[in-house]
Amino acid sequence: MAVLDVVKAGHPVLKQVAEPVEHVNKKLRALIDDMAETMYKTEGVGLAAPQVAVSKRIIVVDDQAGSGLIALINPEITHAEGSQVGPEGCLSVPGYFGDVERFNKITVKGIDPHNKKVTIKAEGFLARIFQHEIDHLEGHLFIEKATNLRLIARNCLIIILYVLSLWEHQTFLFPL
Ligand code: NI
Repeated sequence: MAVLDVVKAGHPVLKQVAEPVEHVNKKLRALIDDMAETMYKTEGVGLAAPQVAVSKRIIVVDDQAGSGLIALINPEITHAEGSQVGPEGCLSVPGYFGDVERFNKITVKGIDPHNKKVTIKAEGFLARIFQHEIDHLEGHLFIEKATNLRLIARNCLIIILYVLSLWEHQTFLFPL
C-alpha cells in the first residue's frame, strides 16, 4: 500500500474522459488499495482514479458517516431524483469550497474489486460524493458548476471543522 500523489486542477488527465475497465486484475486491486489509503491519509471522502493520474473508471468513497469503504468500477447512475444544494471541496482543488446542486437520491451500478456486479442506492451526502467522483471520470471538476466559490485556508478550515464538530457531527466540508 502506498499514498499516491494527487494531481491538481490544470493537469490534463483531469479533463479526460476515463476509460472503462474490462476486468479488475490484481494490479488494479493494488491501485484501488492505494487510492483508498490516499483518500484516508488526505482526509478525503472520495477519490477518482484520474486524480492519481490514472485515466480509468474507478472510484473510492467513504462518507465517514457509516458507509464504510466503497470501491466501485465503471460506476453508472441508473436512477436519480430530487435535488440538494451543499458545499463541496476537492483534493485536486485544494482550499476551495463551493455550493453545488446535485440529485438527492441516486442508484449507482458498477462492479466491485472482485468483478461482481453491484447496485448501490445512496442519498444525501453519500449521493453527493458519488456524483462528484463520477464527474471526475467525465473530465469535470466541481468548480465548473459551483456557485459561491471561496478559498478557505487550511488553518481556518480546521477551526471551522472544530466548531462544527462541537455543534453537531458534520463531515460535509471534507474534500471529495
Ligand atoms: Ni474531487
